[in-house]
Amino acid sequence: MNVIDNALKPYYSSESAIIYNEDCLELLSHIKENSIDMIFADPPYMLSNNGLTCQNGRMVNVNKGKWDASKGFEEDAKFHDTWITACRRALKPEGTIWISGTYHSIYHCGYLLQKNDFHILNDIAWFKPNASPNLSCRFFTASHETLLWARKDKKARHTFNYDEMKNGLFPEDKMKKENTQMRSVWSIPPPKNTEKQFGKHPTQKPVDLLLRIINASTNSGAVIFDPFNGSGTTGVAAALAGGRYYIGAETDAAFCELTVKRLQP
Ligand SMILES: C[S@@+](CC[C@H](N)C(=O)[O-])C[C@H]1O[C@@H](n2cnc3c(N)ncnc32)[C@H](O)[C@@H]1O
Repeated sequence: MNVIDNALKPYYSSESAIIYNEDCLELLSHIKENSIDMIFADPPYMLSNNGLTCQNGRMVNVNKGKWDASKGFEEDAKFHDTWITACRRALKPEGTIWISGTYHSIYHCGYLLQKNDFHILNDIAWFKPNASPNLSCRFFTASHETLLWARKDKKARHTFNYDEMKNGLFPEDKMKKENTQMRSVWSIPPPKNTEKQFGKHPTQKPVDLLLRIINASTNSGAVIFDPFNGSGTTGVAAALAGGRYYIGAETDAAFCELTVKRLQP
């Protein structure tokens, strides 16, 4: 695929996917302007600041990794501004970007999308039917994440596969009624055990979530980029959707390796 120059060495490359063990800003500086059809970004949530949560009935630290620690409100905003600006350059005018996050990051990202002239199309509430209970019992149990979907150019015509979303089968989603319009609340369980057979990522997204996003907002032939590849869920879903080309950037080599294992046919 002719959208990245040859200056960087890929970690992995196949006919339909290429993974770089690089900072996304470095990789983005090698991607051609106006060349990407769709970006899915699951950036650091900035919530790994020594809090506690409950997992399988046990109290555990919330920390996901050093990459997820907050550097303070202003620094976090600068970080999001920088990568969103770089993504804008790489997107085609009719291209769209999805950003996932919790309240720790999503309001920064929503503000910065608008500041960078993106046009917000939807905010999706991804409801997690079996979310961990709240330990303090002093506020509500967090049971959703938000997905922002935005278009680069307000006047361009973006891809939305309306019929597929309305009439497709979504057995994992107890809220989706057959042959009715897809709404903005999606009930999708966490990744299945089979999605973790090669190893786990602490914030791994379910394949069903990414498959829905890819099927809704891209067609065969699309170039999809994920600046925060993690365990490569976007690449796995792109392969399942078929006919798409996937580009991933990930700073942690262990997660690149996990991605390669997941992408093997
Ligand atoms: C929220 S996780 C993504 C999880 C992914 N969606 C999945 O399903 O596995 C964010 C990932 O971005 C990586 N990361 C953090 N900063 C990065 C950067 N500047 N460039 C590339 N990757 C980065 C982290 O190592 C982490 O694996």
